[in-house]
Parts: sequence; C-alpha cells; structure tokens
Amino acid sequence: MQEICDLVNLELESFLPDEWNVPDTLRKAMDYSLTAGGKRLRPVLVVAAAESLGGSREAALPVACAVEMIHTYSLIHDDLPAMDNDDYRRGKPTNHKVFGEASAILAGDGLLTHAFYSVVQSTKRYHVPAEQTLAIVEELSRYAGPCGMVGGQAADMEAEQGATNLEGLRYIHEHKTGDLIVFSLKAGGRIASASSEQLEALERFGRCLGTAFQIQDDILDLIGDESKLGKKTNSDVKMQKVTYPFFLGLEASQKEADRLISEAKEAIEGGIIPKPQRLLELSDYLLKRDH
Ligand code: IPE
Ligand code: IPE
Ligand code: MG
Ligand code: MG
Ligand code: MG
Repeated sequence: MQEICDLVNLELESFLPDEWNVPDTLRKAMDYSLTAGGKRLRPVLVVAAAESLGGSREAALPVACAVEMIHTYSLIHDDLPAMDNDDYRRGKPTNHKVFGEASAILAGDGLLTHAFYSVVQSTKRYHVPAEQTLAIVEELSRYAGPCGMVGGQAADMEAEQGATNLEGLRYIHEHKTGDLIVFSLKAGGRIASASSEQLEALERFGRCLGTAFQIQDDILDLIGDESKLGKKTNSDVKMQKVTYPFFLGLEASQKEADRLISEAKEAIEGGIIPKPQRLLELSDYLLKRDH
C-alpha cells in the first residue's frame, strides 16, 4: 500500500499541467484537499486490481489519480455546511474553513472535471487501448454520477431517523461509498484487459467491500480516535444520520462487516483472478482499520 500511495502522491503533486493558467486560489484550494493525506484506498484498489490480472502499475496510475480526485471532491462537498457541516478532514480544517464556501464548491467542481482529463492520459501516455479507456470514462460517469455516488449522497441527505428503513440505508451505502470502490476495481481490471467474468468477480468483490467499508466508517464515527481518523467523531450522531449502528447496534454492525468481507473474498478466490493475494490482504486490512 505504501509503495502505491507514494507513487500516487507523487503523481498528484503535479496534477494540473504547469502551463495551464489557473486562478491561484482555485489551484491552492484543489491542491489543499488533494495533498492533505488520506488513505488512498481507491487508487490502491485500481492498481491492485490491475496487478491481480498481470496488468501494469504505471498504466493504472492516471485512473488511480482520477478516482482520488473524484473522491476528494466528494469529501469537500460532503463537509460543506449545507451537507454534513464538518470542520476537520484528513487532519486539517475542512476546505471551506480555509478557503470559504464558494472556493470549496469550485475546488470540488475542478477536481471532478479534471478526473476525466486524467483518465484519458492512460491512453495518451501509457497506450492503454482506447476502447478500454472509453469504457472507463463511461463507467466513471455512471458510478460517480446520479445513479452512483451523487445519487447515494442525495439519498443520504434525504434520509431521516425514523423514516428511512434498512433497505433505504443499503441503497445509501451501496451508492455513496460502494460505487467508487466498485469502479476502482473494475477500472483496474479493464486496464489489464479483464474478461467479462473477471470484471463480474471484481464487481462482486467491490460491492461487499464497499458496504463493509461504509459500515466501518459508521462504527468509527462512534468509537474511533479523532487523532487517527483526522476527522471529528460523533458527526453522525450530531447530524442524526441513519447508519448501520443506528439500526443494528455496534456489535451486529461489526458482524455484518465481517460477513461482507468473507463474501467479498469468496468472489475472487477459486482461480478466476490469477493473483488475488493483494486484494485479499487489503480486505483483511480494511476490516481491522482504525482510520
Ligand atoms: C471517507 O472515505 C468517506 C467515505 C466514503 C466513507 P475514506 O475513509 O477513504 O477517506 P480518506 O480518503 O482516507 O480521507
Ligand atoms: C461520505 O460519507 C460519502 C461521500 C463523501 C461520498 P460520510 O459522510 O459518512 O463520510 P465522512 O464520515 O464524512 O468521511
Ligand atoms: Mg456524508
Ligand atoms: Mg460526512
Ligand atoms: Mg462517516
């Protein structure tokens, strides 16, 4: 993970071409959140999925950076006063606390748009076949858009304790968090020219992993350590969010995350993915994470 994070971080340091004439505050605001840290889980999944099928790490990097840009934009907007109204993120004051709301909104917009520029570089710089890149562009807009992450965030905003049922909560988790994780795995697969059966296996793996990851996020909001998380705990309680612990309690939520991780692993074991080891290790790591 560390090796891939280092590569991704290096790449993200110069994510906008130097010669582009970008307003200084916009460049700084985008850069602030993008380089603030973060686990880089989604980029790691892109690379690990590509490598699990014998694909090239380098060729996966533009897509790995793209998904991190989309994820970072979603966090900047998620923290806005109109959404979760949070003051800390990745161990630093949130984007709008430093640059103001208008700049934070625009920094998010900039990261969202630039992600697609980055995806295209996999063909321009690393000769990933254009039809794979086209499929990745289509999937990125689907998984990040209105029936994907944005749809999940919209449902999250509308959800209410007492009115939303468990099925509604499943929709929220599947889309607000699961979809970018599924995207990351399938895009990594596509870079390595995965077969449709292999893409399906990666999708099933990502579905379970994504929901488990958000359940864990909900649990950490209650029992996590702020200094490790880099964000305030009890944000969900304060905002009266519908979460897994709200419905099931802590213990049953943890059990559900455990069950989902086992199901995730089954999807990629048994020979369909030639080198699943890293992905399996990552799923164990995610179950034990404290940040
Ligand atoms: C936080 O994501 C928001 C969710 C979708 C759960 P991460 O826990 O991956 O946040 P970073 O990228 O490490 O900051
Ligand atoms: C955020 O979920 C999901 C997205 C940003 C798409 P949360 O609101 O639970 O994430 P945190 O806890 O603020 O990181
Ligand atoms: Mg939120
Ligand atoms: Mg939030
Ligand atoms: Mg949360």
